[in-house]
Amino acid sequence: MQTHEIRQRFIEHFKKAGHTEVPSASLILDDPNLLFVNAGMVPFKPYFLGQQNPPYKTATSIQKCVRTLDIEEVGITTRHNTFFQMAGNFSFGDYFKEGAIENAWKLLTNTLEDGGFGFDPDRLWVTVFHDDEEAAEIWENKIGVPAERIQRMGMEDNYWSMGVPGPCGPCSEIYYDRGPEHGRDGGPIADEHRYMEIWNLVFMQFERGAGDKKGNFPILGELPQKNIDTGMGVERLACLLQGVDNVYETDLLRPVIDEAEKLTGATYGAQHSDDVRFRVIADHCRTGLMLILDGVTPGNEGRGYILRRLLRRIIRSARLLGATGNTMEALMNTVRQTMTPSYPEIADNWERIRSVAVGEEKAFLKTLESGSRLYEGHAAEVKKSGASRLPGDVAFTLHDTHGFPIDLTMEMAAEDGLTVDRAGFDTLMAEQKARAKADNKAKKHGHADESVYRPFVDNHPTVFTGYTQLEDEGCVLGLVADGALADVASEGQTVQVILDRTPFYAEAGGQMADRGELRGASFIGDVTDVQKVGKKVWLHQVTVTGGELAVGHKVTAVVSPSWRHQARQAHSGTHLIHAALRQVLGPTAVQAGSLNKPGYLRFDFNYGQQLSPSQMRDIEQIANGAVDADYTVHTIETSLDEAKKMGAMALFGENYGSQVRVVEIGGPFSLELCGGIHVEHSSQIGPIAVLGESSVGSGIRRIEAYTGMDSFTHLSKDKALVADLATSLKTPSEEIPERIEVLTAKLKVAEKQLQQLRNQQLLSQVGELVNSAVEINGIQLVAQELPEGVGAGDLRTIALDAKSRLGSRPAVVLFASQDNGKVPFVAAVTDSAVARGVKAGELVRTFGDKVQGRGGGKPQMAQGSGSSASGIAAGIEAVKEVVSTV
Ligand code: ALA
Repeated sequence: MQTHEIRQRFIEHFKKAGHTEVPSASLILDDPNLLFVNAGMVPFKPYFLGQQNPPYKTATSIQKCVRTLDIEEVGITTRHNTFFQMAGNFSFGDYFKEGAIENAWKLLTNTLEDGGFGFDPDRLWVTVFHDDEEAAEIWENKIGVPAERIQRMGMEDNYWSMGVPGPCGPCSEIYYDRGPEHGRDGGPIADEHRYMEIWNLVFMQFERGAGDKKGNFPILGELPQKNIDTGMGVERLACLLQGVDNVYETDLLRPVIDEAEKLTGATYGAQHSDDVRFRVIADHCRTGLMLILDGVTPGNEGRGYILRRLLRRIIRSARLLGATGNTMEALMNTVRQTMTPSYPEIADNWERIRSVAVGEEKAFLKTLESGSRLYEGHAAEVKKSGASRLPGDVAFTLHDTHGFPIDLTMEMAAEDGLTVDRAGFDTLMAEQKARAKADNKAKKHGHADESVYRPFVDNHPTVFTGYTQLEDEGCVLGLVADGALADVASEGQTVQVILDRTPFYAEAGGQMADRGELRGASFIGDVTDVQKVGKKVWLHQVTVTGGELAVGHKVTAVVSPSWRHQARQAHSGTHLIHAALRQVLGPTAVQAGSLNKPGYLRFDFNYGQQLSPSQMRDIEQIANGAVDADYTVHTIETSLDEAKKMGAMALFGENYGSQVRVVEIGGPFSLELCGGIHVEHSSQIGPIAVLGESSVGSGIRRIEAYTGMDSFTHLSKDKALVADLATSLKTPSEEIPERIEVLTAKLKVAEKQLQQLRNQQLLSQVGELVNSAVEINGIQLVAQELPEGVGAGDLRTIALDAKSRLGSRPAVVLFASQDNGKVPFVAAVTDSAVARGVKAGELVRTFGDKVQGRGGGKPQMAQGSGSSASGIAAGIEAVKEVVSTV
């Protein structure tokens, strides 16, 4: 049975039982505790916790999940995929244990004709939490599972939570016996390899606090109601129903292994170590593609780091299997084909996915070789010295200069039987981070102490009135000083102020937070930043400049009009630049981030190459054309589906609620999902002056521009500069480029002439040089450093001239000089000296050794170049020595 059909049967079964089908959420949800969605229940968390009312009593979904805790285990064990699909059914205060158990059992054991999966009930085993008599009783008496196939497990195995504070509860798991050829008898407690877990039923009724994954955490209390959360592993089912040995060989992943065989020339199934690499490739390619689909781009931190690590492991595994060229595109293309039936959105995003993955491959291949060489050199040294630990600074250089994720270095070391000084590496990384963060610190509230805001997030979401007004009356609901709630704030203090309503825009969607003032009857303070917490509560960072502020006070919140005016200009300007960019570069130039603040905007986008000057000019012109067209700016509140139908551009990886705001400038010209603040007419943006374009990491480029008065100031500065140039060059400004060209050409000619004159002068002194010859060992020797600036060619001319003046006598000429940081040198030897055994080639080698250079040539004439002028004198001495001993 194909995976796609497994998904359909699951959903149909639960739809028939009255569940609402809910589409998979993005892998990236706005949860500070979670890097990626790691279970089917994650999107439903607010319903379980009672923070929001579910719009349905029961639901079913097939959720995309990523778990990357044990990347090293991939391919070694047979059950773990980093990306997998969790099929689940959920009850929010509706059915409980009995309903969950019955529903699962029916689907597993019903015949294929009946819509089930047709598993033989005699091969199914179950486990329950050790004191959950109720569940055990249902399994035995209601379902009829024999008591010997119901086993009990403790906290570590049969108590489920997300691994972090949140909903949790005891669970019951269903296993399939794959037969004695896969391991020993005795049920799942004896052998989890032979008995494969396929479904976990969680009886979700408690909330847990902080602690570890093994069950050492406090239970904070009961949830508002008893719920059901289940998770069936789609990949594991596919493995069983397709009769393959492991989850890497199903219809979704085996084609990737086949492709990897073609690309590398190696064979799957021939050798265990190779098989692991094949499985790594298949698993990571799929996870990589799905992460890019949901908006992750490779980076050095957080989600970006995980993606980078996965992609780089693919590349390295392919190399180790024998690939020599690029493999990423072909591999990803295979994943695209296997996954598109279940995820049709891959087709629309393919270009972007391809370009991110291929861009990362390009970047990594560039440094893979040099990094591997560096690694091998150090590893060999460590081994030679009898030690077994690679120093932390080597790992740091590999990371910093060659882009080797630390885990990759550790894996390579492990393959060589070495360890890595992880603590040393971490210290260096921490130092680097501290440097980078120093100026950014303190700006944003950390996630760690979010609990102080919790009561406000739950009960007092801030009312935002800033779309239509700059000033509003509000009441102080809370003050937070140094991470703790406070009652008062006095002059000089900087605190976070929570109001019931505010006109201040909190930083979001690339737009910087508003600045302004809070004023009360006996208080005044500057608002220096505004951030949102839990998406709902506005935290105003306020420095009290006069009087005292206390919880309960009434205040007037006033946004600085000039700040807001210029911030709007920059934000609307960003939309115009974005639209212009896509007109010029096409739809694959997808937004990767943006920042706009009064007078300035920057826009990052995925694009593999530098923009040409003419593309830059076009973008600037189109954006300014839109300003000039004086388009009306409309904002429309609508559903996400409707917005997508309108063709509004959304940022990948961003979480939009079901209701969204669309900002439209000039109809189809620019249509974006955006919560920011904009001008009313495009002409209010004023001129947009593009500053330039640059690279900000693999495959991502950045455009920067000024807007409004700042554009004017920028352009006017340039104008003054041009006027100054015109005056000093004594030419009309439009002729400056030509004038500079003429001047540069003249300068070149003059320099050349000057050099010629110098050389002529030198040549006229050759007679003197020759007169200075000393006789050593019956040979005339002229060995000297000539003035700085004499290049190799002229040295040669002068040396030949000197040699010919020395006539038929045995004679040796050696000249050196310093030219542009180099040390050119030449030796010329007369035939009669050659007959005595002197060779010019030998002389330049001797000289070269002293000036860190090398050279060569014929016995009569040889030359070379070095880099260390301080060795010239020693070189001359060494040459004398050679001449005196022939
Ligand atoms: N949330 C449960 C799990 O992930 C079903 O196993």
